[in-house]
Amino acid sequence: MEKLQFIVLTLVTILSIFSDQILVQSQVSLEYVRPPPRRIITTPHDRPEAHPQQVHISLVGKDHMRVSWVTTDKNAPSTVEYGKLPGKYDMSMTGEHTTYRYFFYKSGKIHHVKIGPLEPGMTYYYCCGGAEKEFSFKTPPSKFPIEFAVAGDLGQTEWTASTLLHINKTDYDVLLLPGDLSYADTQQPLWDTFGRFVEPYASRRPWMVTQGNHEVEAFPIIHAHPFVAYNSRWIMPSDESGSSSNLYYSFDVAGVHIIMLGSYTDFDANSAQYKWLQADLAKVNRQKTPWLVVLLHAPWYNTNTAHQGEGESMRTAMEHLFYNARVDIVFAGHVHSYERFTRVYNNEANPCGPVYVTIGDGGNREGLAMMFQKPSPPISLFHEASFGHGRLRIQNLTHAHWSWHRNDDQDSTVRDDVWLESLSSTAKCKGTAGDQRQFKPIGDEL
Ligand SMILES: [Fe+2]
Repeated sequence: MEKLQFIVLTLVTILSIFSDQILVQSQVSLEYVRPPPRRIITTPHDRPEAHPQQVHISLVGKDHMRVSWVTTDKNAPSTVEYGKLPGKYDMSMTGEHTTYRYFFYKSGKIHHVKIGPLEPGMTYYYCCGGAEKEFSFKTPPSKFPIEFAVAGDLGQTEWTASTLLHINKTDYDVLLLPGDLSYADTQQPLWDTFGRFVEPYASRRPWMVTQGNHEVEAFPIIHAHPFVAYNSRWIMPSDESGSSSNLYYSFDVAGVHIIMLGSYTDFDANSAQYKWLQADLAKVNRQKTPWLVVLLHAPWYNTNTAHQGEGESMRTAMEHLFYNARVDIVFAGHVHSYERFTRVYNNEANPCGPVYVTIGDGGNREGLAMMFQKPSPPISLFHEASFGHGRLRIQNLTHAHWSWHRNDDQDSTVRDDVWLESLSSTAKCKGTAGDQRQFKPIGDEL
């Protein structure tokens, strides 16, 4: 039985890699060659069956946290005990659990428990399912300043380890991940090793993620339902943001409204995602949340030769919504390199459009996307094919500092940084695009 399972999974993986290669090769120039990636780290399960593993936390609503973990033991309770002092848990919440099957793989018991209300900027100590092992996390602040770490296309290699060590060296409040998490690519045990690999980081600070192409894991007829592992393991606050799908949602934290979109679910004007985005943007109150940030996977602006044009249909469908709402920054992944654009709308520099950043350089097994178009278009201000992560420190209502930190082996080196002014405080961009008709919006307005 195990032999058959191995053969089927191997065939499925070969099919997956082969189809990905065809897709990539059909869309990039022949000279594009990725350098050798570093070794995958497979983090073993070394705890008793009932003990929590793969612990990670995510923000839910104004003052709650979702604690998620996996146990091999199907009888382990979905309970979190927590408090403000180590070893002293005066609060307890019980939540839900799920499992899923993928061909011959059956997941462990995946627990999700919402705890709170929690105080902002506070350290809490917690344990899961009655096990002794203690974890702790710090809640984000309720006011500026707030600092986000941003890393996409993470994977679980030695490069990923380097990126996460650098992220952890300096304190931050929330990690934002614009898609492509485990690179399990149908090999479900790699979701488990990824969960264990990131636990030291994801159990301490909330990880807010959206999905990439490596999360789809669907095959016509034999496994038609996409995102099964992702939706079971990484539940995000869709209910709390009026979304009917775990693939797109939004949340507020310390004066920032953050929207996570799905590049691999419908996004045309008749789609549920489009209508949800339109409604969500209409509700944003820039007095309360002066900063407006969006994350998605396939970049709308990209001068790398890899994945050219893959975000174009989503851009043409939705870009006017971002522009009219005065979105400040859009982070994307997918392309394994770093690139920062000026403020852009409809392919032209525009002082009221978002700054676009590609940060798909977390460290996955596929290596870097080395080739950029020449000459570089003037809207692209900086690009470099190196592994690394970004930092967005929102200083106050009006100003934020963005920096990109390259992995120079053991060291983290700032290679690009810029101060940004929120469009909510930029006099010439106040109001909607109805006041800015010289920029010719390409669709309906809010
Ligand atoms: Fe991707």
